[in-house]
Amino acid sequence: MTAQPMLLFGAAETEAVGAALAACVRAGDVIALFGDLGAGKTTLARGLIRALGFAGDVPSPTFPIVVAYDPPDVSLSFMHADLYRIDDPDDAEELGLDDARAHGVLLIEWPERLGARLWPDALVLRIERDGDDRRRLTWEMPAAWEGRWPPR
Ligand SMILES: Nc1ncnc2c1ncn2[C@@H]1O[C@H](COP(=O)(O)OP(=O)(O)O)[C@@H](O)[C@H]1O
Ligand SMILES: [Mg+2]
Repeated sequence: MTAQPMLLFGAAETEAVGAALAACVRAGDVIALFGDLGAGKTTLARGLIRALGFAGDVPSPTFPIVVAYDPPDVSLSFMHADLYRIDDPDDAEELGLDDARAHGVLLIEWPERLGARLWPDALVLRIERDGDDRRRLTWEMPAAWEGRWPPR
């Protein structure tokens, strides 16, 4: 199901969407964040991780591919993955994504790299450029997210 797009003016609004997501996430959730290079995926993830209580820098995980955040730094275990450099879905197996999901929340940039391995119950978010200073966010909501997203 796709709803009306959300228009985001400036990086602060992209971070704010991440913060809104922080209020909705539960252990076991997977968020698949699609978008081109520079679309704002890491910016959104940063807003989410900070809203979970993380006070430090939130780097792009392009290299080393995954960054884990654990209590007490955050209110629930969170793994931030960037699969840009993964060529073969089989290579993703050793990253511990299944495990991350079992213990907390998993957010994936470049989820298309997982091919058919992407979890069907993931919340799918797509962020795209809409001019230089605006982004457009759309989503596909699995049953597990009904009533949780979008925020009212
Ligand atoms: N809504 C927005 N409007 C304008 N610029 C944005 C918006 N959201 C993010 N940005 C900027 O776009 C760039 C995106 O970077 P990043 O989040 O690292 O993208 P990605 O992870 O998708 O490659 C950053 O410079 C960020 O400040
Ligand atoms: Mg990124």
